[in-house]
Amino acid sequence: MHSPSRRHLLGLTAAAASIGLAPAVWTRAAAQARAGENPFRLGVASGEPLPDGVVLWTRLSTDPRALSGLGPQAFDVAWEIAEDDGFRRVVGKGETKARAADGHAVHVEVAGLRPGREYWYRFNSGGHASPVGRTRTTPERGAQVDHLRIAYGSCQKWETGYYAAHRHLAADNPDLVLFLGDYIYEGALGREEVLRPHPDVAARDLDSYRQRYAWYKQDADLQAAHAAAPWVVMWDDHEVSNDYGGDADRTPATPGQFLRRRADAYRAYWENMPLRRDAHPDGAKMRLYRSLDWGRLARLAVVDDRQYRGARTCRAVEEKKRIPYDCPERLDPKRSLLGEDQEKWLAGRIADSQAQWNLLGQQTLMGELRLQEGKVSNDGWDGYPATRRRILETWRDAKVANPIALGGDVHCFFAGELSVERGQPPIATEFVGGSISSLGETNANLNAARFVNPHLKYAEGEVRGYGRVDLTPKGGTVTFRGVNGLDKGSPVRDLATFVVENGKAGVVRA
Ligand SMILES: [Fe+2]
Repeated sequence: MHSPSRRHLLGLTAAAASIGLAPAVWTRAAAQARAGENPFRLGVASGEPLPDGVVLWTRLSTDPRALSGLGPQAFDVAWEIAEDDGFRRVVGKGETKARAADGHAVHVEVAGLRPGREYWYRFNSGGHASPVGRTRTTPERGAQVDHLRIAYGSCQKWETGYYAAHRHLAADNPDLVLFLGDYIYEGALGREEVLRPHPDVAARDLDSYRQRYAWYKQDADLQAAHAAAPWVVMWDDHEVSNDYGGDADRTPATPGQFLRRRADAYRAYWENMPLRRDAHPDGAKMRLYRSLDWGRLARLAVVDDRQYRGARTCRAVEEKKRIPYDCPERLDPKRSLLGEDQEKWLAGRIADSQAQWNLLGQQTLMGELRLQEGKVSNDGWDGYPATRRRILETWRDAKVANPIALGGDVHCFFAGELSVERGQPPIATEFVGGSISSLGETNANLNAARFVNPHLKYAEGEVRGYGRVDLTPKGGTVTFRGVNGLDKGSPVRDLATFVVENGKAGVVRA
């Protein structure tokens, strides 16, 4: 059954490792014992893969529910990475510190690895071994590659559901996991049915954001997904505050007050994700947009549509983020969802791509979504249509091969076709991968929406899950994977599979 979502899309209705033979550095860290308590309660993760390196992450916590973390003390943490899951061929190891200033998170940037292969890693602190994570490097630059599997998801509201989707995502054995935002929800408990509570108060400062991440990360299925593959992460609004954009959210906070909150939220985000040091925020600024190449097979550009966006448009006539389609301010070509610098950067990544598949990871539904009463939302691409048009024109004019948009945020699965103008042949195809646990829309509402948006070929709002992309030089498939329910043990099934033909945009059911 559908429960009303606090976020109305359409607005139509309301493994622990055995240590084995310990290297010296391993033993030193172990000697700094913190008696008895396992500090690896938040699991391990990896991310930001390159042909020769990857980031390894963990964050020490003996009590994920504590607001205060581990206090002011620093702890030694040893790490090692190996070519086999038994750690017989260790190719890198070292020791670092988990400091209070980083929320006792550890980010190890490993270099000197071989391209295009799997690795296994683990940490040790206070005599405790972490779970073992599996990761991989990207293929050599320009290499011909046979296959890439990306699993992608978004929107994992803790209190509305368990993370069965993550367990199945891990079992799908992806090369890469792409997470497109709403990793946490910052709010107090809402009106929805609470399957498992967290503190009934909104995260608003560094300690409370850190606590919210720890709360989410205690989930074993989420830990399994992190331990299965390297992640590339992008945030959406709920990592900071509902519907925020630039220096404003929907609260009466002044820009100064909001940016202080944003700085704390960005810092907690960096601490809790497997990101490089060069992404570390500087106050309320954090550069997260970036791209990744998978040999010659694929380029993935991931964009930040929250930090740099212009103010919400047509606010004088706004009604619960719905605005008239023909509100003239909306169409101002100077309006940007990504900001000028990021738009320029993206145009460059599109124009110089040699890749066969060009993926755009973005937070939400990119295609136009006209509502039946002649309105659109001003919170997503429809509030900034000039940016969408510029990207589509760049894809078209650069004759870029096989552009595909992957999205999240709207808590629904969508497959759609993206054209510069309605009715024109599609330039790109888009696949929005549902939500891990956040509640969505009724299919009755989505079917009504599809009636006035014929470029949306598939929609499913009542099932939670994730998307899976398989790319080869010959062609690709996108599979929407749905869990039967929001309980822990829920099985998964294929909701729909789409063929992605090489050289031809459009939604084709397999
Ligand atoms: Fe969400």
